Order: sequence, then C-alpha cells, then structure tokens
Amino acid sequence: MPTFSPSNPRLRSHHAYFSAPPLRNVGVVFAACLVAFSISHAHGDLVDYQKQIQPLLQQHCYKCHGLETQESGIRFDRRSALLRGGDTGQPAIVAGDPTKSHLLAVLSPESEARMPPDGPYLTLADIRMLKRWISEGANWPDQMHLKASDVTSDHWSLQQIKRKIPPAGTTVNPIDTFIDAQLETAGLQRSDRADPITQLRRLHLVLTGLPPTPQDLQRFQDNPGKIDAAYAAAVERLLDSPHYGER
Ligand code: HEC
Repeated sequence: MPTFSPSNPRLRSHHAYFSAPPLRNVGVVFAACLVAFSISHAHGDLVDYQKQIQPLLQQHCYKCHGLETQESGIRFDRRSALLRGGDTGQPAIVAGDPTKSHLLAVLSPESEARMPPDGPYLTLADIRMLKRWISEGANWPDQMHLKASDVTSDHWSLQQIKRKIPPAGTTVNPIDTFIDAQLETAGLQRSDRADPITQLRRLHLVLTGLPPTPQDLQRFQDNPGKIDAAYAAAVERLLDSPHYGER
C-alpha cells in the first residue's frame, strides 16, 4: 500500500504528467499529494537536503556535475560551488531567492539550455521541491559555513593568477628557460638549432600556411651576419600580413 507522500516516486510521476493517466483514481492521488504537500508546508517542515535534494541531484546531475566531471566548471555536491556558479558566472543558487537561482532557470521547459541536455527532465514536483528548498535557504547539513569563496577546484581556468619566476638559464627569451627546466627533469636535450632556411620555412608555414617565396629566402640570406634580427623582422612582417591566420 503506497503512502501519499510526495517523495514516493510512483506518486510523484503521476502528478507530474497530467495527460491520459492510466489509473482511474489518479485525480484522487493527485489531490492527496497536494494535500500532503500543503500539510507538510503548514506544519513548517523544511525540505530535507539529505533525503529529498541530494538523491535528485545525484541521479540527474552528478554524472556531468560531480566529483569526476564538472561541465561548465560546476559540481553539485558542494553548496559553496552552487552558491558561486559555473562558467556563466551566475550563482546556481541564491539562498532564499529562487528567482535569482540559475539552477531553476535551466530546469524550466522554457530554457534554451534545459538540463540535463538529453533528458530525462525533472518532474514538475521535483522542480517545485528544489524551489522550496532554495526559498528556505538551501539548507545543507555540514556545509552551511562554507561560502562561495571557499570553492576549490583543480580546473586550470579557476586557478588564481600567480607570477612565476623563470628558472635560471641563459636563453634570450625567459619562456625558453621553463622549457629547458622541463627538458632537464625529463632527461632530454634540445635538438640542434635548424638552419636559417628551414627556420624561415617553418615560420612561414606556421603563420600563413604558405612556404616562403624565393624573394623571402633571398632577403633572409642577404643578412648572414644578422640572422636573429632577420628572423625577428620576418616574424613581424608575417604577423602584419593579411594572410596571417587566414584559412
Ligand atoms: C550529460 C551531461 C549533463 C547532465 C546530466 C547535466 N548537465 Fe548541466 N551542463 C552540462 C553542460 C555540457 C553544460 C554547459 C552548457 C553550455 O555551456 O551551454 C551544463 C551547464 C549547466 C549549468 C550552468 C552552469 C554555469 O556555468 O553557471 C547549470 C546550472 C546546470 N548545468 C544544471 C544542471 C542540473 C541541475 C542538472 C541535473 C538536473 C544537470 N545540469 C545535468 C551537462 C550536463
């Protein structure tokens, strides 16, 4: 005998879909659900995160927003992560304010980016319960003290920008000293420097996708004593070229 509780999944799905119900007494069940809802409301029962919210998020969202995968830079097993939001920069939940909670917006049938992307979508009852939970302050045992700023993530885009001191080295460009340091750790050595013509050819192919013309080569070879300056000039010329980045 099923109980008339909104958390009973069989009853939940009935009252989410109103069309052509297979059961004759679905209207009664629906009414009973509504009564169950309002009674629990009237008595001031708060939505229980552990029993009602966490299983819902786990079933429908953790696959892409959990410990392993964090699509859009957000995981739903941390209150602080929800308060802060993901790559859109909008808080997924604003405790006490469902209208500002992006999480509810993406669950709505009107949303262009409705979640989960391939369904199955949450029932209206589930969405209503999430809304109530947010209105009540998004209670979450053990995590109420964590603020949005306490979010930690390994994702490169969420790391704080730090100035790095280049490792000691003797190259012209300090960026090369990072490469040298890694090569050394890996027990590798730099390849010998390519001859100037090969360098120019690589440069042209990388920046414009075309090999240098005979005139380009000639100009380069005319400066044998100043090959570094000629190379730098070629870089500038190619970056200025309308063919740079062309497809
Ligand atoms: C199959 C993978 C998948 C599942 C399951 C999924 N999502 Fe997403 N979610 C995504 C992807 C991908 C994006 C980024 C969408 C974009 O950039 O257009 C996203 C973005 C979001 C965002 C925007 C985050 C931001 O950047 O601020 C929210 C909120 C969100 N999802 C909520 C949910 C909720 C709630 C569920 C569960 C009901 C869910 N998602 C289930 C893949 C998923």
